[in-house]
Amino acid sequence: VVVVADPLPETVLGPLLGHDVRFCDGSDPSALKEALGDAHALLVRSSTQVDRSVLAEAPYLRIIARAGVGLDNIDVEAATQAGVLVANAPRSNVLSVAEMTVGSMITGLRNLLPANAALRSGRWDRGRYQGRELSRSTVGLVGLGHVGTLVAQLLRPFAVRLLVHDPFVSVHHAASVGAQLVDLDELLAQSDVVSVHVPRTPQTKGLIGERELRLAKPSLLLVNTARGGIVDEGALNAALKEKSIGGAVIDVFEIEPAIGNPLIDHASVLATPHLGAGTREAQERAGREAVTAVLQALAGHPVPTAVNPPASHP
Ligand code: MLT
Repeated sequence: VVVVADPLPETVLGPLLGHDVRFCDGSDPSALKEALGDAHALLVRSSTQVDRSVLAEAPYLRIIARAGVGLDNIDVEAATQAGVLVANAPRSNVLSVAEMTVGSMITGLRNLLPANAALRSGRWDRGRYQGRELSRSTVGLVGLGHVGTLVAQLLRPFAVRLLVHDPFVSVHHAASVGAQLVDLDELLAQSDVVSVHVPRTPQTKGLIGERELRLAKPSLLLVNTARGGIVDEGALNAALKEKSIGGAVIDVFEIEPAIGNPLIDHASVLATPHLGAGTREAQERAGREAVTAVLQALAGHPVPTAVNPPASHP
């Protein structure tokens, strides 16, 4: 029994033929628990929260396959203790996220969305929406993993001065993408654009808070296509309100769906509903990789994309 708890492209489900595939709304915890009663595999994206209480209702579960990268919606430690493999699709959508990040830098720097809204409401206001060039500006990347590295590569033609903060990468790796490794404070103080590319973990939650935002240039464009909560939302809201930074691109929120979140209302914010991986190509790659992991686990084969030790299921 394979439970599909988040929408996945139909095209990727073909290889599951022969299994009992059931669909449920994973954002509803009781529906999820009920569906998992006799399930052997669970396929999710980011809306389904798999915590200890969900795992307790899934006595036959062997694998949770995440059609995407981030694992902050899955309690991996609890899954490991329950003997359940967790696998993700670590590179499936990174190009889509990186492309959107660079596109939104330009969209934000050129005030394209407020200008579009003004034109729709009948105002032809060329002077008001003067922007800035991305080329030759200083861009700071917080995190140089798969997405951060791709963003650095996509930025190459813009000849930006590239700063990186990432305690886990070498000077050599940073240099290979034309970046200079600096500490977070220096990155914030010097950058015209700061873009966040770290996972949300207990260590990165609130990584950019009030103190850090106070270091930034008043013109800073802050971009977060990684995860909500890495930039403290209260501190960001205050900085935008008092215009101590120039603006923000926010694709991810601490609580999603982020309906009613005050960050969305700032004119200087370009807010989108967690769309970084929202391309046909990325969703197909992520879905296919997750389905492959399910088939491998159900066949008792090794799962190369597993993030926790092989489980010996009772
Ligand atoms: C990811 O972690 O893969 C992206 O944020 C996309 C998603 O959550 O589906």
